[in-house]
Amino acid sequence: MREIDGMRRAVAERAAALVQPGMKVGLGTGRTAALVVRAIAARTKEIVGVATSEATAALARELGVPLASLDEVRRLDLCIDGADEFDPALDLIKGLGGALLREKLVAEAAERFVVIVDEQKRVARLGEKAPLPVEVVPFGVTHTREKLAALGLAPTLRTDGTQPVRTDGGNVILDCRWTTSIDARTLAAQVKATTGVVEHGFFLGMADTVLVGTPSGVEELRRPR
Ligand code: A5P
Repeated sequence: MREIDGMRRAVAERAAALVQPGMKVGLGTGRTAALVVRAIAARTKEIVGVATSEATAALARELGVPLASLDEVRRLDLCIDGADEFDPALDLIKGLGGALLREKLVAEAAERFVVIVDEQKRVARLGEKAPLPVEVVPFGVTHTREKLAALGLAPTLRTDGTQPVRTDGGNVILDCRWTTSIDARTLAAQVKATTGVVEHGFFLGMADTVLVGTPSGVEELRRPR
């Protein structure tokens, strides 16, 4: 566990070093992204951050990092965020922290999307370890779940033990697993086309760089342009 903390800290420091004063920066969500926010705050507060969740916004405020909304900023120089899985093509699954919708909106607005992970997130095929989080509107969730099941998925409503977990947008999440082999792009299009679905956690062709924390240091993977 301590080793993972060290790997996360190393990638967070490496990512924070990319941030220059004056930049507009997307601030991700999760344990690794929180370390980046802390590392950025320690380096410079002369940035404008756009937070991908209420939790990240609260942390940034606490640390004195100036924030703006995505609509105020429009284009970002950089977005730094964690992920739940990455494959050899640098395609991702995100959303185990429940912030996938804002994370995708912010990452899409950035010139460069840098992903920070520890090596336990590495998979040969997406879905190997993590489920695919799908954010859906609460209205008719049982029907939406049936439609996703008809695509070959096994969706489970995410709860905190008793109640459905609500996202920052007030929606709920269906964590979807599958047992047959899938094509992520085809499945992403089918899920997105399902009424009731707000967004899914496939981030395909989006990451420019993945910084991987390993026991021997930070490995930098770049997507060919
Ligand atoms: C949040 O919704 C997720 O997409 C996170 O980026 C992801 O869960 C990674 O978080 P950790 O750094 O805590 O593993």
